[in-house]
Amino acid sequence: MDAVAAVEALLSPEGREDPFPYYAALHAHGPVVDLGGGYTVVVGYDALNRALRNPALREEGPEWVQDRWAEWAGNPSVRLFSQSMLFSGDPGHARVRRLVSRAFTPRRVAALAPAVERLADGLLDRLARLGADGAPVDFMAEFAYALPVAVICELLGVPEQDRLWFRPLVADLAAQLEPVYSKEQLEAADAAALTLLEYFADLAAQRRAEPRDDLVSALVQVRDEDDGRLGDQELLDNLVLLLAAGFETTTNLLGNGLALLLDRPAHLAALRADPSAAPAYVEEFLRYDSPVQLTARWAPEGAVVEGVAVPPGGEVLLLLGAANRDPVRFARPEEFDPERPGNQPLSFGGGPHFCLGAALARLEGGTAFGRLLGRFPRLEAAGVRTRRGRLTLRGYATLPVSVAGTATGTGTAAGDTCRPSVHGG
Ligand code: HEM
Repeated sequence: MDAVAAVEALLSPEGREDPFPYYAALHAHGPVVDLGGGYTVVVGYDALNRALRNPALREEGPEWVQDRWAEWAGNPSVRLFSQSMLFSGDPGHARVRRLVSRAFTPRRVAALAPAVERLADGLLDRLARLGADGAPVDFMAEFAYALPVAVICELLGVPEQDRLWFRPLVADLAAQLEPVYSKEQLEAADAAALTLLEYFADLAAQRRAEPRDDLVSALVQVRDEDDGRLGDQELLDNLVLLLAAGFETTTNLLGNGLALLLDRPAHLAALRADPSAAPAYVEEFLRYDSPVQLTARWAPEGAVVEGVAVPPGGEVLLLLGAANRDPVRFARPEEFDPERPGNQPLSFGGGPHFCLGAALARLEGGTAFGRLLGRFPRLEAAGVRTRRGRLTLRGYATLPVSVAGTATGTGTAAGDTCRPSVHGG
């Protein structure tokens, strides 16, 4: 298949449903493919890993927005994302990342382990009650969404009663991260951005007045000897980013992972029998069906990527999901194999923007799968699942399961046998 046709197909509903045949088609053209018209696509594992560290490839931040979409630069959702840490370049990025990292420490993440277990168990109790009579329950709504949102809100210090209304808002906002979106989606993203910014402005003011032991309080107080504290707008933009990055992605890790297991009963049984294998399964879920399939950069002054010239102003699409299926890096890439040696998918990116929440996402994944399978010995698929129809953040909208035949109480034996393990970033 022609490379341009493969990329066009990826952006179509069919490609968003199943991008993997198109990734395979792109691999046949080499690790870096010049699509013409200033567009380059990177699919090779090593090439992509290096591209993430190539200083000539810049984030699609304010400068890019001005260059390409000047008329949209003032839209709240465009402004918010483009000025957040995720899309800013150095020296600003390094400074903000250092300040946020100072509050978002490995110690704070590790200390969340008991809370993640408690929150997971509470949701599993609810799942057990809802499905006790054998009725299908939607794993996405009841667990895959609910756990990451509860965890990130616990970390940030968002009160429990405020957590439910975040879901549609963050879903609306995240549409802005897709390569293609409609005018209506942009309007919804803008409305969501304004609501979330206002919410966090109130919360930050409360925590400034009365600090607690949470990330919002820590970030409000964070100071940098050279530059003064995190600016007000920087604080709010990055709080919204943390909220959005903290659960859309992890929700998809949980949903994509469970779907893979339900389709592979032998693997499901193996993981249930040995919950200590959960971290290795999580890595393979990340590789096989990455919750984030792509990111992008541009080359304002031009660049050379593995010998391929990118013209000044050229766009570079980095297909993380394709790199995770690179046959040069992974033997039998189309096979789900949690025992692959040296499995290091690129799902969390790499280089200066390497995912700040990787350890937290791994903690949540390891805890969730260990406890879920231990708790429900008869967990099964229970109906048709549907995808969300998005490419960048790939996941399910619904994933009906049956949990029938299990006890509805807390404190199961599974909770005692499964120990989550946090990997280093
Ligand atoms: C399975 C779950 C997750 C996946 C697959 C994922 C993936 C990614 C990727 C690919 C990037 C880099 C994007 C780029 O280079 O353009 C990134 C950045 C980031 N992620 Fe995650 N993420 C996950 C969970 C989380 C969580 C739980 C949090 C926060 C609590 C988080 C916070 C962030 C932040 C703040 C950045 C920006 C870092 C920077 O620009 O320096 N992520 N993530």
